[in-house]
Amino acid sequence: MSFSNELMAYAILIGFATYVIISADPGSSPFSWHPTFMVLAWVLLTVGVIFFRKPRPGWTRIGLHWALQASGLTLAIFGFLAIYRNKESSGKPHFVSWHGLIGIITITFLVLTAFGGNFANFSVAISRKVPSIQPKLVKRGHRLSGAVSLTGLTLTVFLALFSVWFQAVTNVTLWYMLATVVGYPLVYTLKTTFF
Ligand code: HEM
Repeated sequence: MSFSNELMAYAILIGFATYVIISADPGSSPFSWHPTFMVLAWVLLTVGVIFFRKPRPGWTRIGLHWALQASGLTLAIFGFLAIYRNKESSGKPHFVSWHGLIGIITITFLVLTAFGGNFANFSVAISRKVPSIQPKLVKRGHRLSGAVSLTGLTLTVFLALFSVWFQAVTNVTLWYMLATVVGYPLVYTLKTTFF
């Protein structure tokens, strides 16, 4: 995979996120924080995986990955709280759309993956005291749950395109363009990192 494919992934992440944030107008309503925090989480969590495969000194690689995933997860939790509270105050039912359902499953996976990542990071040290722990297996498990989380995240962003809010802020041409490109960063990341 060439450098231009990587640039394309960044361009799509940044372009898509910028469009969503401008459309959401952060602070204009309690809802506006949901798309704002969530697209930023999508960008950070994806970039944090792309960066991880780069040859860097061990601590830089892990430190950068940790910082990006921790910030992305924090944003995702705030984004979730924003929509949850918004629905509570308007008396609407929770998790009734595919977006909301896959979204909450993804957030659960993200949290579990974060625990798994910390476990993987210390797995060599832990295995010295608990020999039944196999660091290789723990790391493989973290990679797999990371791939599932990232797929869920991108799928949730894709499903957001079908929400009443998204359809109201965009026009048909742009909607099809966004729907076409939104999966590219995921495909690029999976192809270069996992396969
Ligand atoms: C482009 C970014 C996003 C936009 C524009 C957006 C928009 C929306 C809208 C309009 C709703 C209310 C309608 C519904 O329930 O379907 C909603 C709910 C929800 N969203 Fe998002 N969303 C985005 C990203 C995400 C992401 C990345 C996640 C999680 C990984 C997520 C998780 C949820 C959840 C869990 C609900 C349901 C909350 C509840 O029912 O209490 N969203 N979103």
